Amino acid sequence: NMAAMSLQLTVVSLFLLGGVLTFPLGQEAEHTSTCGYESCHPTKPDMLNVHLVPHTHDDVGWLKTVDQYFYGDRNDIQHAGVQYILDSVVDQLLKNPDRRFIYVETAFFYRWWRQQSSSMQQTVKQLVNEGRLEFVNGGWCMSDEATTHYSAVIDQMTMGLRFLNETFGPCGRPRVAWHIDPFGHAREHASMFAQMGYDGFFFGRLDYQDRARRMMYREQELLWRASDSLTPPMADLFTGILPNGYNPPEGFCWDQSCDDAPIRDDPDLEDYNVDDVVKRFLAISAVYKTNHIIMTMGSDFQYENANLWYKNLDKLIHYVNAQQANGIKVNVLYSTPSCYLQELHRTNLTWALKNDDFFPYADDAHDFWTGYFTSRPALKRYERISNSNLQMCNQLEVLGGPVSRRGPFGVGDSKTMKEAMAVAQHHDAVSGTEKQHVANDYARRLANGWQHCQVLVSNSLAGLSGSTAERIYCDNLNISVCPLTESSKKFSVNVYNPLARPVTWPVRLPVNGTAYVVSDANGKSVDSQVSFSTREVRRSRGFAVNELVFQVQAPPLGYTTYSVSLLQNGPPPASTQHHTPTAIKNKFLQVTFDPDTGLLSSLSNLETKQTIKLTQNFYWYNASDGNNVESIQPSGAYIFRPNSSTPFVISKTAKTESIQTPAVQEVRQWFSPWVSQVVRLYADSRALELEWTVGPVPIDDDLGKEVITRLDTSIQTAQYFYTDSNGREVLQRKTDFRPTWNLKQSEPIAGNYYPINSRAFIKDDDDQLTVVTDRSQGGGSINNGSLEIMLHRRLLYDDVRGVAEPLNETSGIFPKGLVVRGRLLLSLDRPASAADAHRPLAQEVVLQPLLTFTGGDLHPNTRLEFSGLQAALPPAVHLLTLSQWDKDSVLLRLEHQFQSWESKVNSQPVTVNLQKLFTTLDVLGVSELNLSANQWKDEMKRFTCNSPPTFEDPSTWEVTLRPMEIRTFLLKVGLR
Ligand SMILES: *[C@@H]1O[C@H](CO)[C@@H](O)[C@H](O)[C@H]1NC(C)=O
Ligand SMILES: *[C@@H]1O[C@H](CO)[C@@H](O)[C@H](O)[C@H]1NC(C)=O
Ligand SMILES: *[C@@H]1O[C@H](CO)[C@@H](O)[C@H](O)[C@H]1NC(C)=O
Ligand SMILES: [Zn+2]
Repeated sequence: NMAAMSLQLTVVSLFLLGGVLTFPLGQEAEHTSTCGYESCHPTKPDMLNVHLVPHTHDDVGWLKTVDQYFYGDRNDIQHAGVQYILDSVVDQLLKNPDRRFIYVETAFFYRWWRQQSSSMQQTVKQLVNEGRLEFVNGGWCMSDEATTHYSAVIDQMTMGLRFLNETFGPCGRPRVAWHIDPFGHAREHASMFAQMGYDGFFFGRLDYQDRARRMMYREQELLWRASDSLTPPMADLFTGILPNGYNPPEGFCWDQSCDDAPIRDDPDLEDYNVDDVVKRFLAISAVYKTNHIIMTMGSDFQYENANLWYKNLDKLIHYVNAQQANGIKVNVLYSTPSCYLQELHRTNLTWALKNDDFFPYADDAHDFWTGYFTSRPALKRYERISNSNLQMCNQLEVLGGPVSRRGPFGVGDSKTMKEAMAVAQHHDAVSGTEKQHVANDYARRLANGWQHCQVLVSNSLAGLSGSTAERIYCDNLNISVCPLTESSKKFSVNVYNPLARPVTWPVRLPVNGTAYVVSDANGKSVDSQVSFSTREVRRSRGFAVNELVFQVQAPPLGYTTYSVSLLQNGPPPASTQHHTPTAIKNKFLQVTFDPDTGLLSSLSNLETKQTIKLTQNFYWYNASDGNNVESIQPSGAYIFRPNSSTPFVISKTAKTESIQTPAVQEVRQWFSPWVSQVVRLYADSRALELEWTVGPVPIDDDLGKEVITRLDTSIQTAQYFYTDSNGREVLQRKTDFRPTWNLKQSEPIAGNYYPINSRAFIKDDDDQLTVVTDRSQGGGSINNGSLEIMLHRRLLYDDVRGVAEPLNETSGIFPKGLVVRGRLLLSLDRPASAADAHRPLAQEVVLQPLLTFTGGDLHPNTRLEFSGLQAALPPAVHLLTLSQWDKDSVLLRLEHQFQSWESKVNSQPVTVNLQKLFTTLDVLGVSELNLSANQWKDEMKRFTCNSPPTFEDPSTWEVTLRPMEIRTFLLKVGLR
């Protein structure tokens, strides 16, 4: 009970220094609540302390949608109701002050909280203030680590943690990151968590060979140095691997969903089993370095009837500890991950240092979780473009002022989209490992969010431009559909650029005419070309026969306007050639084609005078159906398991057609009725675009297919290749190799796949070929000089990891199977300067300009050009976040986007003046925050709490960013 607890008030600081964790204690704290480290139960130094952590793992959508899980709807699919879990846990916590519970997913907690009476809210606050209910992780969801982009992860963490801070204050701030379920772990996630102020990170899943080695060497605790650029300990994070995934030890599951025997402790009754339970409990073995072990007492959606768990845990603690009187040196206690972490820190041990990551994850020799890197490629792209749209929505809310939320087009908001994006980061959302109806629900939420944002964007642009003419959004330009441009003789295009530097961007619009006049904001006419549009994918939607192509130039964080008017109708210009061209080139690049096969044959950078041999083609792996000698594991939503290491070529040759105009040159390649590609070189581009279209993947032959494209080059890779981590730092990979253990390779393809979130490259001393992707995909380098990327998967079997559906996507418009289209951007550079090209290129793909359209003539007073910035930011600096925080403050994140070793020019510290940033805002004060914006930066260093926010007029407004640094500021602003 409480009296027995140590109420020693200590302020705990965790400094991570060079692999050693030190732990100064004993300073006086000023506040009276006893949450966090202060509320931990005492342990016994001379005994083995067993930390029982009651918890529930609540997926923010998986077999059911997030709302079905919350309400406990559709229990026929899976028995799970989060509202009942929270009801029941709170009730049970009140019954015994010793009991503890941790809660993780703020998306659910937020839903529940809003439905509670104020007296219940008070009760819960008290539980939080006493550390009996503790939040861990605390983001909106537990994000996927392989397929997410850091920008969206930071946003979703910020949203969850902000709610916890505003609702509970410092006692609501989670101390540990808790990613017990994600299927492999990204180094960038550890880096972000360190910068969000977490003291430690726990997870459950790692490769089975890695686990075995760590158990042998007692290295299940480690210090993860998660950045090669940030100065330690900025990205250092203590990391602990849980002993049994996130489940209770066998035989000790007392949830209503489990069948283990309850503790029957009435000695008068026949089936008294206390001695047996205690004996079995004491026999559990664990290999850890200290005299503390953690046991996760819970699992998926458990504690709906929390009484079952707690009644038995109370007894377990009582009866095991009673054995101390008999000399048994075991002390069992209710605990939380942060209390366990505190004890580990107190031991002052030195932990092994880790610099690489935890990909790929295999749970057995033929069970590599590398399929989900690509699963549901259309959803993965939709999530990525939605992030771009959300960032623009956030920016325009700030730049346009209050009229954006309530203006000529009605009431708009960014919150709906923020929530939809936050939910989409969950490890069964963008990962593609959910059931089909749940995937549809995520997409529906994103679409709905975008509707709300469109109103806001229209209001904001109306305010900034002075024109209240209706704005049309064309979200299907990638398949040549836009009703306005197809049918209108005169329209204008507003191009909003979310980047803090000017961009040049090719625009392609579906049109029905054959010649147009395009003029820029100054009335100057710009080059434009009309060519055939592709029609396969749009099917019955749209009727344009042509595409209008021109380059736009948009100012930093602002827009410009182009007007387009029809010059002539009639047949399209005869620019199409049916023979295979031998080469296409612009002033930067030349690409050649093999005249016999129609495939790419070389790529040259004309500026640096580099040439590589480059052949590219499409292949498919035959997905294992599970009828196999080594293992019965089939390929599925999670798992990639080809049944042969040699993929089938879709076609050795491509039928080609080419279109050559001054604005763009294209070679269109047809490989089969379901695979085609446009090789495209714009006049002003330093990158070669490969626009691939794959699907419907045929399954009439009853073979599941995993479709890849492979680039085979003359680059001498010596087994090395490089992939990014969550779109940020790049990690070196080596075929059939893991940096931290001696790999026994059992899947030569799947075991060499890694997540690619935004880029991958291969290089030797002279040449680097970088591929920038438009969504997360899986890929690998199996042979020397080769890089392959998986584009699409269609499978016939479930892979027995719970989703219980084969990954076989169809939809109303595509009843025969989804058709997916995407782009790869290739650049060839010298290795020493390649980042100067691929960093900005990848950024332009992640945050791409938004086009909005207005029919007819604009009012003559319309402001045709606008920039929210006084000047473009330096090339190394990325404006990561600009978002309204409350009435008169905005959240700003500035990021140095180069790694320390990447560039002679750009890997230097840069300085930005915060006061001279914006054109529409006066910056009146600034306060620096941690990365997740739930703690003031200066408090983060001291690990204390309770001082009010202060907007300082700093002595200098200049802030310096070092390589890979992200700095987060709250700016107090006034509209100009
Ligand atoms: C913790 O360990 C470090 C390095 O091993 C040592 O210098 C320090 O004195 C230790 N501190 C305590 C309190 O034991
Ligand atoms: C589009 O252009 C084609 C070819 O010029 C013509 O046959 C068709 O009627 C046009 N459609 C519309 C809706 O203008
Ligand atoms: C945390 O929330 C409190 C109100 O509970 C607020 O005063 C404080 O400014 C917030 N901290 C941050 C970093 O936003
Ligand atoms: Zn999960």
